[in-house]
Amino acid sequence: MLTRSRQWRHFDNNTYVARVSLPTRDLANATQGQPSRATRLKALARADAFTKRLHASLVIARRNGTPRAFVWFLIRKGQFMPIEFTLNGKPQTVDVPPQMPLLWMLRDTLGLTGTKFGCGVALCGACTVHLDGRAVRSCQTAMQAVAGKKVTTVEGLSPDGSHPVQRAWIEEDVPQCGYCQSGQMMSAAALLTTTANPSDLEIDRAMRGNICRCGTYSDIRRAIHRAAGLMKGA
Ligand code: FES
Ligand code: FES
Repeated sequence: MLTRSRQWRHFDNNTYVARVSLPTRDLANATQGQPSRATRLKALARADAFTKRLHASLVIARRNGTPRAFVWFLIRKGQFMPIEFTLNGKPQTVDVPPQMPLLWMLRDTLGLTGTKFGCGVALCGACTVHLDGRAVRSCQTAMQAVAGKKVTTVEGLSPDGSHPVQRAWIEEDVPQCGYCQSGQMMSAAALLTTTANPSDLEIDRAMRGNICRCGTYSDIRRAIHRAAGLMKGA
């Protein structure tokens, strides 16, 4: 029988994390007798998945301030940490895999469909939301990065469409098909919180990650100038 360390060295040089966190059953399977290569690879895959989930749970627990003993209790029971954060000004708890993208959680778990799925690979900006006030692509933001933070979606800009960006968008009649516009508004709102009176160049720089297939770019620029004026007057 191979010794445990030889066994692991045999098919993975970077074994420390996998070895210390391998569930007992998988470790036994992998080290008993002369398991086939397929068995060993399956055991390693399970160990890797376990390690990732374990580490994600501990990261979430740290962000949420949850006692470690409680985390280990949940892990021993085969459960992982619920994720707590603030959504549109209200506390929210969700029980989803830590690697789930924020966009999926918003649309599929909570039914907040104002945030759109465009490309899914951080190229179009349709999924833009605010994370602690910064514009981020929710399709590329894992839920484990959201724990303990503040998320604002287009639904949370204002309860009644009275946010200056929303008013300016209506007054300038910006949307065409509308698909990209919630992401455009969230990027514009984030820009205006850091730059009260942005120049055309600053607007173009801040908005260049948001693609509009209908070509509403000049209307968007005008609406941002108008929103800046509305904010000053507010
Ligand atoms: S869907 Fe996230 S950037 Fe396109
Ligand atoms: S308004 Fe149609 S994609 Fe922007």
